[in-house]
Amino acid sequence: MKPSILEYIVCPTCRSDFKLLTKSKLKNEIKEGTLICVKCKDKFKITKGIPRFVVDVTKDFVRTEMAFSAKWKNHHKNHHAKDWVNWQKNWFLERFDWKSIGQFNTFLKSQNFILDAGTGIGNSAKMLSTNKSSTVFALDASDSVDFAYKKYGTSSNIHFIQADIRQLPFRKTFFDYIFSDQVLHHTKNTSTSFKYLTKFLAKSGFISIYVYNKKAPIREYVDDYIRKRTVKMSVRECTEFSKDMAYLGQALSKLKKKITIPRDIPLLGVKAGT
Ligand SMILES: C[S@@+](CC[C@H](N)C(=O)[O-])C[C@H]1O[C@@H](n2cnc3c(N)ncnc32)[C@H](O)[C@@H]1O
Ligand SMILES: [Zn+2]
Repeated sequence: MKPSILEYIVCPTCRSDFKLLTKSKLKNEIKEGTLICVKCKDKFKITKGIPRFVVDVTKDFVRTEMAFSAKWKNHHKNHHAKDWVNWQKNWFLERFDWKSIGQFNTFLKSQNFILDAGTGIGNSAKMLSTNKSSTVFALDASDSVDFAYKKYGTSSNIHFIQADIRQLPFRKTFFDYIFSDQVLHHTKNTSTSFKYLTKFLAKSGFISIYVYNKKAPIREYVDDYIRKRTVKMSVRECTEFSKDMAYLGQALSKLKKKITIPRDIPLLGVKAGT
C-alpha cells in the first residue's frame, strides 16, 4: 500500500479520515499495518501490502467470493499471460465500442481519478493506468487482488484495495471515471449496486459497465436448475462438473448442424431463423 492512498480513502462506515499504524514497510510500500478511523474508530487491516475493507459477511457474498478466490488461485497465471491480456484488450474495445486503444487512451488523458470496480487479477487496472498523471484504484472483494498486486503492484499510479463495491472507502462524487467489467451481476441486486456506484461519480464523470445478458427463458430455467446444485458443491466437484459441460459443448459443436426455426416463439424468447 502506498502511503499516498491516505489522501483519498476514507472510512467506509462514517467517511472520516484514517490514521495509519505501520507495522512493516518495504521501501515505500506499507506491507502490514492498521487503518483506524479518526471518528468511529473502526479498524481495517493492511496485510501483504493491501488494505482490507471487506466487512459484509453475509452467506451469499462469502460464497461468491470463495468461488472467485478459488478461480483466480488456479487460473491467475494463464489470465496474466500475454496472449490472454491481448485478447481481453481487443474484446474490451469491441464491447465498449472504442475504435482503437489509441482512442481509448486519449479519453483516459482527461480522467484524473479512476475506479476499477471488480478488477479481478488487475489486467484492466493496468490498461486504465496508461496516463501516468491519473490515479487508478483497483478494487476487488476476492483474493484476486493479491495476484493483481503481485503482478502490477510496482505501477506508480495504481492502488490495490480489497473491498466490496457496495461499501466503498471513498467520498461521494470522487471519481472521474468508473469502470466495472462483468462484475455487477454477481452482486445480490445488480441495479442497486449500479446506482450505488454512480453516487461516487463526479458531476460530469463517466461510467462504463458490462453485465451479462438475460438469456431466453429455457436457458435461464436450466441455469437456475444447475446453479441450485452447483452452489452446494465443493470447488473441486464444481470444476469437474464444468469440465463435463465443456466436453458436452465441444461434442455438440462438432456436429456442425444448423436448424431453421420457421416462426418466432415469443413465450420462449426464440426468434425465427437459422
Ligand atoms: C467475472 S470477474 C471479472 C473480473 C475483471 N473485471 C475482468 O473483466 O477480468 C468478476 C469479479 O468481480 C468480483 N466481485 C464480485 N462481487 C463483488 C463485490 N461485491 N465487490 C467487489 N468485487 C466483486 C469478483 O471477486 C471477481 O473478481
Ligand atoms: Zn469511521
